[in-house]
Amino acid sequence: MSKSTSDPSPVIQKVAEKDISSAVAIAGHPIHAMAVHFPIALAIATLGADVFYWWSADPFWLRAGLWSAGFAFAFGVAAGLVGTAELLIVEGIRSRAASWTHAIAAMMFLSIIGLNWGVRLADPEAVLPLGLALSVLGAVFTGLAGWHGGKLILHHGVGIMVSDDQ
Ligand code: HEM
Repeated sequence: MSKSTSDPSPVIQKVAEKDISSAVAIAGHPIHAMAVHFPIALAIATLGADVFYWWSADPFWLRAGLWSAGFAFAFGVAAGLVGTAELLIVEGIRSRAASWTHAIAAMMFLSIIGLNWGVRLADPEAVLPLGLALSVLGAVFTGLAGWHGGKLILHHGVGIMVSDDQ
């Protein structure tokens, strides 16, 4: 599927003509869009665990934060690999600057949550204040990368495949 545009620029018109259908999908549903909910939810859960630890000093929240940070990173890397495949395979996706902006925001997010997990693995007590600060930063970058990913789909129409039934 390509997108029509009323933009007078021939460059924009050429970009709009390129295919933007998802290449990594199950029955027309892009896998990346299905996978990103996990790292987003787990990054926010890590922040929640850190706030509860700060508030209660209950070591249960140290363990909860360690596991949620680890799985946020693992699921984030998996989702990022699928997103990278879309970016590199689909011509209309890789020729849009917005796709690369999203990829950069997402890589920043992955670096922050990876560091957040590593810091806890090395020293569980490092949650206050370093882990908590990284969790706040991770939540901010989850928001930035997630909002921008939504913009790719809802604004640019990337990955959308309208079925022939419509
Ligand atoms: C690291 C490399 C990444 C690349 C190259 C990438 C690329 C893309 C692309 C091409 C789309 C459009 C949909 C599709 O074609 O599947 C998209 C959507 C999206 N991405 Fe990423 N992505 C990456 C990582 C991430 C990560 C780690 C997150 C988590 C915060 C994320 C969050 C989203 C969201 C929320 C959407 C919109 C999904 C929807 O509205 O259903 N992306 N991404």
